[in-house]
Amino acid sequence: MALNISAVGALCLCVIVSLFAITSAGDPYKFFEWNVTYGDISPLGVRQQGILINGQFPGPDINSVTNDNLIINVFNDLDEPFLLSWNGVLQRRNSYEDGVFGTTCPIPPGKNFTYTLQVKDQIGSFYYFPSLAFHKAAGAFGGIRILSRPLIPVPFPNPADDYTVLIGDWYKSNHKDLRNQLDSGKTLSSPDGILINGRGPNGASFNVVKGKTYRLRISNVGLQNSLNFRIQDHNMTLVEVEGTHTAQTTLTSLDVHVGQSYSVLVTADQADKDYYIVVSSRFTTPVLTTTGILHYSNSASKVSGSPPDGPTDVNFSLAQAFSIRTNLTASGPRPNPQGSYHYGEVNVSRTIILSNSQGNVNGKQRYAINSVSYVAPDTPLKLADHFKIEGVYRIGSIQDKPTGAAIQLDTSVLQTDYRAFIEIVFQNDEDVIQSYHLDGYSFFVVGLDGGQWTTDSRKKYNLQDAIPRCTTQVYPKSWTAIYVSLDNVGMWNLRSEFWARQYLGQQFYLRVYTTSTSFRDELPIPTNALLCGKASGRSLGNVIHA
Ligand SMILES: *[C@@H]1O[C@H](CO)[C@@H](O)[C@H](O)[C@H]1NC(C)=O
Ligand SMILES: *[C@@H]1O[C@H](CO)[C@@H](O)[C@H](O)[C@H]1NC(C)=O
Ligand SMILES: *[C@@H]1O[C@H](CO)[C@@H](O)[C@H](O)[C@H]1NC(C)=O
Ligand SMILES: *[C@@H]1O[C@H](CO)[C@@H](O)[C@H](O)[C@H]1NC(C)=O
Ligand SMILES: *[C@@H]1O[C@H](CO)[C@@H](O)[C@H](O)[C@H]1NC(C)=O
Ligand SMILES: *[C@@H]1O[C@H](CO)[C@@H](O)[C@H](O)[C@H]1NC(C)=O
Repeated sequence: MALNISAVGALCLCVIVSLFAITSAGDPYKFFEWNVTYGDISPLGVRQQGILINGQFPGPDINSVTNDNLIINVFNDLDEPFLLSWNGVLQRRNSYEDGVFGTTCPIPPGKNFTYTLQVKDQIGSFYYFPSLAFHKAAGAFGGIRILSRPLIPVPFPNPADDYTVLIGDWYKSNHKDLRNQLDSGKTLSSPDGILINGRGPNGASFNVVKGKTYRLRISNVGLQNSLNFRIQDHNMTLVEVEGTHTAQTTLTSLDVHVGQSYSVLVTADQADKDYYIVVSSRFTTPVLTTTGILHYSNSASKVSGSPPDGPTDVNFSLAQAFSIRTNLTASGPRPNPQGSYHYGEVNVSRTIILSNSQGNVNGKQRYAINSVSYVAPDTPLKLADHFKIEGVYRIGSIQDKPTGAAIQLDTSVLQTDYRAFIEIVFQNDEDVIQSYHLDGYSFFVVGLDGGQWTTDSRKKYNLQDAIPRCTTQVYPKSWTAIYVSLDNVGMWNLRSEFWARQYLGQQFYLRVYTTSTSFRDELPIPTNALLCGKASGRSLGNVIHA
């Protein structure tokens, strides 16, 4: 595994950062320069082609503080177009920087693009990933952490250390082979194994000192499997979910569905030795399992005994999902939680019901939402809007209720009004667990249960302390309901995090629309925006930045 960071590059960047820190009066800037290359990796003992960032697999962590501006210059040294997206970074007023093909043109091979993100009013644990062409099966993902500003209280003592723990299922095949399989109309077979921070069995080790407490930021960056995370002889305290401090609960194990992020605290309160960290797949046959190591600094012995078993029933997961609540008195990005938004008192102006399905179209496997299987046009939807290019997509290309029709291919865009407050019900009539992500938003998970959602289901909604997050699971033959306050103008991807499903159409774009053209509602197109498709050769004009 290649793990060489350019020390010289890192030094130069530090100098630039400190120079800028002196001259910048507003929110701080942090600069990153990332080279994306192929490189040999063999996490499961078989050599394969990975995608590395600055020689690293997984890619480097982004360490930031609330309101930081992150300037990330990405050089694409692959032989294919490339895009990075930022799971959970809200991109307020700025969907142009979202790094999905509906908003942003890919970085051509040999070229670069500088993302300008601001982690405005955010805290918490997230990750970035490559959004195009099944690259996610090869790497190029990494952790994003947004720390609270120094004077804002965090509802637990400073941990002795803070570890990124990226877990995910993995294939021994190269991403191009997997992609070819999907392109030819087939489904993918089951993954070959599970990785922890890019390493196979007992490859990832986390150092702890007896008596101290550590924060683990766990994200499921895999392609499809829900994963259970647990540590031999240790409990965990759940403290944060995708940017919100939770009511702290004790867990013996934690289900992390694909695309989700959680922070737990672990206290090294056992005898000085090594302990298994176990990650195993949920809702699959067979169950895939891998182990890593919790290593006490004065460890007298290697791991021993059998790794603890995980839960096997759905109820465990459902009960755990219900138990995850917001700590209403803890600070978030701001210190005044009492003054926070009471989502339960706002009237819903629109209900959207989304039902997933799978089937064959023209002899090829496809996945759909409300019977529409998304196909990407050659031009990002956001650029079509900006340049007023007709014929790229149609409003009304997807209905806001299931139609029961056969699956059809289209560029599905659902339009909603800026500042509306909506309810979205994910109805999963399939026997497969789903995980959905919405870019640009943190939504309240107000309810989830088995069977069919009906208006009566609202009686059981949690209207007090539901967790706001950006990725939610939907159990097999079940529903999940969310409330979303549409306070972020833009073109936002709503997708399955089950990557083959996303790739074969289980996604669409939510166009949050206003007639206002004020930069207070939406930032102008970036001056460095790449142009492609029908937007090629257009002029970015003299954009005046507010
Ligand atoms: C990126 O690659 C270029 C050319 O290969 C090299 O000059 C530069 O130092 C690299 N930067 C980093 C941060 O590795
Ligand atoms: C590419 O990188 C250069 C610096 O090496 C930068 O000036 C330029 O703006 C970048 N291009 C884009 C499209 O961001
Ligand atoms: C973990 O928590 C469970 C129940 O909350 C408790 O029974 C068990 O003793 C705890 N284990 C450790 C190692 O603290
Ligand atoms: C919620 O946060 C407050 C403020 O930091 C803290 O005192 C309290 O213990 C937390 N409650 C739970 C259940 O985590
Ligand atoms: C799960 O919960 C359902 C309903 O709450 C119950 O009927 C079923 O027996 C439970 N299954 C297990 C394995 O506990
Ligand atoms: C919500 O609707 C109810 C009934 O129509 C009304 O009484 C209430 O004032 C509304 N609440 C808000 C916050 O608009």
